Amino acid sequence: MDIRAIEQVYRRYARFYDFVFGAVFQPGRKATVERMNCRPGERVLEVGVGTGLSLHLYPKNVLITGIDISRDMLAQAQAKKVRDQLDNIVQLSVMDAENMEFEDSSFDKVVAMYVVSVVPDPERLVDEMRRVCKPHGRIIFVNHFHSQNPLLGTFENLLAPLSKQLGFRPDFSLDRFLAATGLKATNIHPVNIFHFCTMVEAGNNKQFTSEIMAPVCVAS
Ligand SMILES: C[S@@+](CC[C@H](N)C(=O)[O-])C[C@H]1O[C@@H](n2cnc3c(N)ncnc32)[C@H](O)[C@@H]1O
Repeated sequence: MDIRAIEQVYRRYARFYDFVFGAVFQPGRKATVERMNCRPGERVLEVGVGTGLSLHLYPKNVLITGIDISRDMLAQAQAKKVRDQLDNIVQLSVMDAENMEFEDSSFDKVVAMYVVSVVPDPERLVDEMRRVCKPHGRIIFVNHFHSQNPLLGTFENLLAPLSKQLGFRPDFSLDRFLAATGLKATNIHPVNIFHFCTMVEAGNNKQFTSEIMAPVCVAS
């Protein structure tokens, strides 16, 4: 998976994305926004917002910023914002979620819906999500993870070499993801039909600082 391949795949998906991936994955988006329990005035960042299928689900008194690497996917999100008069969507920008332009601690909640198995470097994505999230903020994911069902799991392993063409990794493991990122999940909940996907909620348990630390001098 590299960023150019992802852009190309989602340029192709953009026109029919809602038809194929809309309704079937919408319960997961709805459950995720409900779980976020947003309070009035909070600032939420949705990374990989895509065509904006979740945008109308947020309370109108919460300020939403959406970013995506695909200009074509984002154009559909912009059209929904205008069509549905979603004035609480304060920003929709083309941006790499692995190298965000936002200041540290800019958002109360940071969410990624069906994105962690798509990006080139999921660990870097999580580091960036933590950086831009306030120290006591919440980080939430919803995604399909590698199935525990032996039949489906084997099928996903067989599909794995096609990740670049599919635009996601079918064999993406939740256990490995949590271990690699050090995320301390406070809630793991199955969502969508046949519990095909999982919602993972975590506190922003890693502190970031952009200050340069003074070197320590040790007297000899
Ligand atoms: C499977 S779609 C999910 C879209 C949307 N979140 C949803 O619920 O349908 C994955 C999205 O992640 C975006 N994406 C992939 N890598 C990205 C990156 N590094 N930075 C920002 N967006 C990225 C893709 O362009 C695509 O729109």
